[in-house]
This record gives sequence, C-alpha cells and structure tokens, in this order.
Amino acid sequence: MNLSPLLHALADLTATEPRHEAQVAAETLRAAADTDFPRQSPSALSPGILSTAGLTNAHRAARLIHDAHVGLPWQDSPAASLQPTSLRAIKSIVTLIGPGAAIPSESLLLGLFYQAAGSYYPLHAHEAAETYTILAGTAQWQAGDGRFPVSAGKAIHHPPNLPHAMRAGPDGFLAMWRWSGDIAFDSYRMLPDPEG
Ligand SMILES: [Fe+2]
Repeated sequence: MNLSPLLHALADLTATEPRHEAQVAAETLRAAADTDFPRQSPSALSPGILSTAGLTNAHRAARLIHDAHVGLPWQDSPAASLQPTSLRAIKSIVTLIGPGAAIPSESLLLGLFYQAAGSYYPLHAHEAAETYTILAGTAQWQAGDGRFPVSAGKAIHHPPNLPHAMRAGPDGFLAMWRWSGDIAFDSYRMLPDPEG
C-alpha cells in the first residue's frame, strides 16, 4: 500500500521544526514516500484510533492516517517490556522510520502515537531527544516542571532525559513522534509518579 500523501504531509509538518534532526527526518520521509507498506489486520485500539483521526478539528495529516489505517502497523511500543503491562491497553505506536522499520534508518526513529481517551501515561524518561507533534485530540502534558494543555498543531520537544507524562483528553490523542541522538531503548525508564 502506498502511503505517499501521508508521508509527504508528515514531512511538511516535520520540516517546520527548526532542528537539524527534523530536517533530516523530513528529507528521509520524502525520499521514501513511495515505500510499499503491507496490509495490516485491525488492532484492539483501531476503533479509537479511527475515531480520533476523524475528529473535525484535527490536522490534515490525521485524516490521511484515517484513510491509510489498513497500511499502518499499529503495535505495542518498542519499550513495552520496560513498562507496566496495563499501558499496552491504552496506547499504540507505528514506527515508520528506524532500524528494521519500513523506512530504514540507524540514526532516527519517527512514527505515530495514539493514546486512548482519558488514559494516563505516567512519568518516564530516556536518553534520546524527542519531539511529539499533536495531530488530533487533546492532552494535558507534563515535561519537566511544565504542565500545559496541548491540541492539534502543537509540537513538544523533550531534551535527553527530561521526565514527561501525558494524560489524554476525552477524545484521546494522535501524534507524530521522533527520537534522535541515542535511539537505543536501554535508557528508557519509568519514574516514580505520584499521579501514576
Ligand atoms: Fe518519550
């Protein structure tokens, strides 16, 4: 399945971020826009993903995620073995770029992230630098000492090892995410969280 419209939309969004790794990611997406993605079976979270992706105030990339759903490999996080098993039921990830992904890279991870309505992803941290860009829905975000609401179009950058946590709003949320720097999962850790 060809996901070219979605990959170009994600590249356009990534290119607006003034960081070198964002520019590299945008070029990587554009260069691989004709990659063939095999058809996927629906996951347990597919109904929620489709509902959030179809919200009327979503970024246009969310509509393309909706339309491309059968070609997107929604899976557990690569860090799932380091997380409480309860988190598997509330979130799902597509890895588009990365080691072993459909678009190979040894220096970047880029993909999609979904978190179910009202759910909480407790404080965690990792060595990789990270940017989330919200595509649909809302959340209450915690990044270091900052706590703030986010909605479609908002980008949040986490420098290496900054603790972060997300509480999804009533429609859940859908985002694009990217890791750069040390992209190994060895440093991923859950942190003590009084709200978790
Ligand atoms: Fe993170």
